[in-house]
Order: sequence, then C-alpha cells, then structure tokens
Amino acid sequence: MLAQVLVFSAVVLALHSVLCTAQCNNATTTLRDAADITQLASCKTFTGTIVVATDSAAVMDIPGLETVQGDFIAANNSLLTTLSSSTFSVITGTVLFQNLPFLTNLTLPNWISSGTLHFDTVPEPTVHDFQQNGQQVNNLIVRNTTFAFLAGLALQGAQMDTLEIVDNPFLQIVNLQMGNISQSATITGSSADLVVMLPNLTYAYELNILNGSQVVLPRLQAVNGGMSIGSIKSPNVSAPALTFVGGDLDISDCGLSELDMNQLVNVQGSVNLENNAQLADLSGLSTLSVVGGLYLVGPFTNTTLPSLRRVQGNALISSTQALNCSDISSTLVQGTYTCHAASTSSTASPLHHGLTGGAIGGIVVGIVVALAILAAGISILYRRQQRGGREAQQQQEQSRVVEDPVHEVGTQQRRRDPAEKDGNAIFEVPGKWPDRGELPGSQSQPNEGGPGKRYELS
Ligand SMILES: *[C@@H]1O[C@H](CO)[C@@H](O)[C@H](O)[C@H]1NC(C)=O
Ligand SMILES: *[C@@H]1O[C@H](CO)[C@@H](O)[C@H](O)[C@H]1NC(C)=O
Ligand SMILES: *[C@@H]1O[C@H](CO)[C@@H](O)[C@H](O)[C@H]1NC(C)=O
Ligand SMILES: *[C@@H]1O[C@H](CO)[C@@H](O)[C@H](O)[C@H]1NC(C)=O
Ligand SMILES: *[C@@H]1O[C@H](CO)[C@@H](O)[C@H](O)[C@H]1NC(C)=O
Ligand SMILES: *[C@@H]1O[C@H](CO)[C@@H](O)[C@H](O)[C@H]1NC(C)=O
Ligand SMILES: *[C@@H]1O[C@H](CO)[C@@H](O)[C@H](O)[C@H]1NC(C)=O
Ligand SMILES: *[C@@H]1O[C@H](CO)[C@@H](O)[C@H](O)[C@H]1NC(C)=O
Ligand SMILES: *[C@@H]1O[C@H](CO)[C@@H](O)[C@H](O)[C@H]1NC(C)=O
Ligand SMILES: *[C@@H]1O[C@H](CO)[C@@H](O)[C@H](O)[C@H]1NC(C)=O
Repeated sequence: MLAQVLVFSAVVLALHSVLCTAQCNNATTTLRDAADITQLASCKTFTGTIVVATDSAAVMDIPGLETVQGDFIAANNSLLTTLSSSTFSVITGTVLFQNLPFLTNLTLPNWISSGTLHFDTVPEPTVHDFQQNGQQVNNLIVRNTTFAFLAGLALQGAQMDTLEIVDNPFLQIVNLQMGNISQSATITGSSADLVVMLPNLTYAYELNILNGSQVVLPRLQAVNGGMSIGSIKSPNVSAPALTFVGGDLDISDCGLSELDMNQLVNVQGSVNLENNAQLADLSGLSTLSVVGGLYLVGPFTNTTLPSLRRVQGNALISSTQALNCSDISSTLVQGTYTCHAASTSSTASPLHHGLTGGAIGGIVVGIVVALAILAAGISILYRRQQRGGREAQQQQEQSRVVEDPVHEVGTQQRRRDPAEKDGNAIFEVPGKWPDRGELPGSQSQPNEGGPGKRYELS
C-alpha cells in the first residue's frame, strides 16, 4: 500500500516535472483566462515571453510565478482593469504596459527588478502597489501617461542606462534616487508644475529636462555629453556640485534670476544661455574656466566670468540691456567674438583676425561699422579662396550671418562648434576626477561629433 502510494507519487512528480518543463519554457505564452494562468502557476521560473491577450479577462491575477527570463507584455487591451501578482519578482527583459485605458489596479508587491520598465499610454492606476526596496531597472520609460506621480518607483541606488519620462502632461513629481545614468536622462513634456528631484544622481551621460517648475540636482558632478534645461519656472536653477559638462550646456526659456553652478569648471561644448527673461548676470558660474563656445542671449547687464581663461570656439553675446562688452575679453575667444547690447555706448564689436587655429574674421551687426566689415570680409574672402573646401563653406555661413545677424549666428555656432571641438583634447582639471573608467553602456553611446576626449567614470 505504502509502496503503491510512493510509486503513484513518483509518477505524479515525474509527470508534473515533465509538464512543468514544457510549460515553463515556451517562446511565447499568451494568458487569456484562468486556465492559462493555472498552467503557469506551477512554474517558479518561466523562460520566454508572457503576453496578456488583448481580449483577456478583466482581472488577471498571476500566482506562483517569481522569475521571468524574458519579457512580460500587457498591451492594447481595453478590458484589463487589474493586473496583479503577489509573487512576481524579477523579469529579466522588458515589462511593457501599453494602451491599457481601463487599468486601475496594478499590484506587484514583490516586484524587484526588470531590464526595462515601460509604461506607454496608460492612465494613472488608482491602486499602484509596488514594494520599494532595492528596486533595479536598467531603463525606465514613461510615455504619454496620465500619471501624476511615479507611484511606487524609488529606484534607490540603482545605476541605470536610460531614463525617459516624456509627454506626461499631469506629472507633478519625479523623485528617483538612482546614483548614475550611464546613457541619457530625458524628462520633457510634463506638467508646468513638475518638480524633478534626482537627489542621488551623481553622473549622467546626457541630461535633458524641459518643462516644469523646479529641478533639484544636489549631487550631480559630471555630465559626459550635453545637458539642457528648458522652460523651468523656478527662480533659481542649481547644480551646486556640477564640475564638468562634456557637450553643450543649454539653459533656455527658464524663469531663473540666479544660477548656482559654482563648481562648474569645464564645458567642452558651448554654454548657451538663451531667453531667460530674469537672468541678468553670470554670478553663478564663478569657476567657469574653459568652454567650447559662449552663446548668451537675454537681458544681461553683466557678463563677467571671473575665472574664464579660454573660449575655444565662438562667443556671441546679445543683450537687450546695457552691457559692457569688455566684460569678456575678446583675447580669450579663439573663434569669433560678437557682442551687441542695447546701449550703443557700451557696444563693442571686436574683430578677431587670428589666422591660426581656424580663427576667422569678425562679424558685426551695427550699421556704423558695416563698411569696415565689408572690407574685412573681402580681405578674408580673398585669403580663404587660397585655402580649401571646408573654409569656403564656412565663408558661406559667414555671409548668411550678415543677412540675419542675431539668430543665424546662434544656430550656426551650435552647428559648427562640435566640429571645432573635435580637434581638441582639452581637459583642464585632471586632479578632480576619479580614475579613468567606464559606466556600463556609455561605450555604446554614439559619439555624435562630440568632444574629442570624454570624461569617463570609474
Ligand atoms: C506554448 O504557448 C502556446 C501559446 O500560449 C501554446 O499554444 C502552446 O501549446 C505552448 N507550448 C507548450 C509546449 O507548452
Ligand atoms: C499596440 O498597438 C499599437 C498601435 O496599433 C502598436 O503600435 C503596438 O505595437 C501594439 N503593441 C504591442 C505590444 O503589440
Ligand atoms: C487590486 O488587486 C488586488 C489583487 O488582485 C486586490 O487584492 C485588491 O483588492 C485590488 N484593489 C482594489 C482597490 O480593487
Ligand atoms: C496618448 O494617449 C492618448 C490617450 O490618453 C491617446 O489618445 C494618444 O493617441 C496617445 N498618443 C500617442 C502619441 O501615443
Ligand atoms: C539618496 O540621498 C538621500 C539624501 O539626499 C539619502 O538619505 C539616501 O540614503 C540616498 N540613497 C541612496 C540609495 O544612496
Ligand atoms: C556612480 O558612479 C561612480 C563612478 O563610477 C561610482 O563611484 C558610484 O559608486 C556610482 N554610484 C552608484 C549608486 O552606482
Ligand atoms: C516644453 O518646453 C518647450 C521648450 O520651451 C516648449 O516648446 C513646449 O511647448 C513645452 N511643452 C509643454 C507641454 O509645456
Ligand atoms: C531656489 O528656489 C527654490 C524655490 O524654487 C527655493 O526653495 C530655494 O531656496 C532657492 N535656492 C536658492 C539657493 O536660492
Ligand atoms: C559683475 O559680475 C561680477 C561677477 O559676478 C562681479 O564681481 C562684479 O561686481 C559685477 N559688476 C558689476 C558692475 O555689477
Ligand atoms: C568695461 O569693462 C572694462 C574691463 O573690465 C573696463 O576697463 C571699462 O572701464 C568698462 N567700461 C565701462 C564703460 O564701464
């Protein structure tokens, strides 16, 4: 009798393990109803992709399963209201929630990590139950949702590849605690009241934050590529620990009257401060020493940069206020220095005829000096014709500048600067950086004509 029971049990176990092996490894398993879910319930680990059918039951509660070696996809389903699993813990691939207009309950209390967590076109769930300790994702994408908060997401200490929070018009707060972002961080198209808090972010590869009321980046030290902040209402923008930006630094259309980047030494691209209606001086850039270019357009009354030693490309300053154009000495500018301000008495238009290092003749907008410019232009043109194609092209750009002074100079400078940076391997503040190293993933980032030498993390 006992023997019979044992044999029976063994058969059941064997059968079970055969069945389980079959079920637990299936390239794609589609879950439509309770029967499909029951089939999976015996698997702790599933290898393959799990797809919630587009015509699934409204409530999908998935018990038992802990690990998915693959993706989990719930998409294009107008029936689903609840997606829950008390056991789901690790999903190595992508978790995609897409086009789920009636999702109100997302309960994953044991979820810890995913390769990618992607929300696309989903409403803010009324129930959003995530445990919050030790969360880890490589990529977080939140696009076109009605989320007001990223409820349940803290991402403490995580090192991430990509953060993309785009077109979430009701989003009020982003408060994520990741330490490093090895590729890009993009937060755009949120509510104008959005407060972005990245209190532990130390390094990012690219950082773009547009639209919002405040940006808090207390620990940010270095951005390997470009950094841009736009349309932020706050009266101050502060990145007090930032020392290095490897691409352009753009701050535009912001409400700031003060900038606090008082550790920033080197910007390998251009520093572009544009249309910040309250920003009148550069007192928050007290340590800025070497920049690829300068493009300052706005109501500046004082453009003194006390530590500035070199502008490797062009400098353009255009102020609607009275400004002393000698605040920045044209001798520091290796490219073209152009400055015009409201008050003619302080307007200067230094010409810079250095023929070394690709330096080019001056541009001026004032009618008074137009003839001088024309003469200079002709002489430069003559010299240039003896040189090659690239400079001939630059000459064409130069002519365009004269036609549409302020705007064209800016656009052009942005286009041209990366090329100018290419030749430079300037890195001015070596003592401050950790030893050479790499963030995972930064290697795969395309080098879009950026600086010749990047700051690499250890
Ligand atoms: C794999 O999943 C598909 C779709 O859910 C199903 O039709 C098929 O029977 C499964 N195969 C195995 C071996 O479990
Ligand atoms: C959901 O539908 C959209 C639009 O038809 C489509 O682009 C997307 O690929 C679908 N998602 C999935 C996971 O099939
Ligand atoms: C959300 O789903 C979980 C799991 O299915 C359930 O226990 C909970 O009661 C649901 N909450 C609401 C408010 O419906
Ligand atoms: C954004 O979401 C809305 C519904 O909330 C949808 O109608 C629209 O098509 C989505 N837009 C994109 C670009 O997916
Ligand atoms: C993030 O920073 C806060 C203080 O700003 C600190 O309390 C917390 O421990 C940090 N978290 C991690 C994971 O470093
Ligand atoms: C971020 O990167 C720096 C430099 O590589 C490293 O020292 C630090 O531990 C990283 N932080 C986290 C939270 O991974
Ligand atoms: C976000 O900022 C950009 C750049 O200033 C602006 O063009 C866009 O209209 C803003 N978007 C929203 C949703 O406010
Ligand atoms: C920056 O502005 C915020 C409000 O937007 C304020 O709370 C904070 O104290 C200001 N910081 C400085 C240094 O002025
Ligand atoms: C211009 O700004 C510099 C640096 O912030 C400051 O030291 C200087 O006093 C200012 N000059 C005037 C005339 O305000
Ligand atoms: C402009 O600044 C230069 C250099 O700081 C100074 O020598 C000159 O007197 C200033 N001119 C005016 C009009 O303030």
